[in-house]
Amino acid sequence: MSPMAAPADVALAEAVAAFDTTPAVLDGIAHEFGLQIGRGLAGAGGSLKMLRTFTRQPTGRERGLVVVVDWGGTKGRAGIVELAGAGAARVVTEEVFTFSSQDKVGAIAPVFDVVATAVGRIVADRPAAAYPLAFVYSFPARLERIDRAVALALTKGWSVAGLEGQDVAALLSAALERRGLTRVTVTAVANDTVATLMLQSYRARATGGRPADIGLILGTGTNQAADLGPDGIRNLESGNFDGVAPVATRYDVALDRELLDPKPGAQRLEKMVSGRYLGELLRRVVCDLGQRTVQFRGVAGSAFATPFAVDSEHLSRIATDRTAGLDQVGALLRTFGLASSRSEREGVRELSAAIVRRSARLVAATLLGTLQVIDPALADRRTVAVDGSLWGGYPGFAGLVRGAFIDLVGAERADRIELAFVKDSTSIGAAVIAAVAASQGSERCSSG
Ligand code: BGC
Repeated sequence: MSPMAAPADVALAEAVAAFDTTPAVLDGIAHEFGLQIGRGLAGAGGSLKMLRTFTRQPTGRERGLVVVVDWGGTKGRAGIVELAGAGAARVVTEEVFTFSSQDKVGAIAPVFDVVATAVGRIVADRPAAAYPLAFVYSFPARLERIDRAVALALTKGWSVAGLEGQDVAALLSAALERRGLTRVTVTAVANDTVATLMLQSYRARATGGRPADIGLILGTGTNQAADLGPDGIRNLESGNFDGVAPVATRYDVALDRELLDPKPGAQRLEKMVSGRYLGELLRRVVCDLGQRTVQFRGVAGSAFATPFAVDSEHLSRIATDRTAGLDQVGALLRTFGLASSRSEREGVRELSAAIVRRSARLVAATLLGTLQVIDPALADRRTVAVDGSLWGGYPGFAGLVRGAFIDLVGAERADRIELAFVKDSTSIGAAVIAAVAASQGSERCSSG
């Protein structure tokens, strides 16, 4: 050991402990989250935007054929969904399209042209029909009507020049028109969290069940939508919640400060819980230990040193390694050009688990923050509809969230919260929103 190096085991234990979250601190975060919901609804500021959605819970009987578009990350989807009523639905056809890294930071028109081209392919062999289109725009947007959504600052590493302040429905309509697709009409714009909530409700209501209270996405980004009764279904943009200082480590502070998109101070919760950032946090801790201890010495010269090289799929692979020597963790590190000792592999696994566990506990606290607004005593059964690659892909994530619920509100009340995983909810959820919009018709301008 060089004289300057910190004892590796002590430094590792400190780093792991930095990601601990006590019930008392999480309680405080849940409380603050609830307060900020109130402030947002009252238009009194705070970090939760509480955006209106101009939709309402479905009946379960909605029917129709809807073109759906999903844009919220590098991969988008276009498809046609058929709602058959009675909670039934099927994806008639669907294709995935990919944005280039240039699209993510470029001009507006190329992005919408990628989307419109995909829509063109989807409807190509159906020349006669006219379609309503539901546009799932999974970034912050201020809706003014169900079919008018003004873009706010982008998230998840996107920064399309000049998009902020523009109506994304109008931009998509213009792109469809450029392709001669005038038989496709944008009738609804929604956030992905709203689509998840609505799909769960559509299915549940058809069988006499209760609608979802919350829609949660935990994938590349994170966010919640919630049915707040008289205030309607709101898009919280919870990834922007800033009451996370009590659990922020120096790694979180540095990540927040050093990123340009989203800018420092923005998306603070998202930067601590969502798939885009968890691998990056692990990478930063390992690089730091490589500088300060005798462990991970090779990291500086390896691909591990590249920002955002580690993603949440890597974390899932680390968690599933059951071999005694952590061979899969070793193989993963080798793909980054990093040789490792057994204790380094154990360190990586411990750190990764601590970072993911904190994510789950923060998600649980913020869900409780919302539930405390809806039903302060948690007297009734409540349903959280969830989708997203981190929730669906990381082994045992739901169990970690449930464990935190039990820590915070006790087993009896925790049991009243159903966590319903609604896989691939976006397309069908979007179709439900379009069908509800069609039935709302003249109510378009009513409050949402
Ligand atoms: C966006 C939200 C979106 C979430 C999940 C966040 O970065 O701001 O609008 O719902 O990601 O996709």
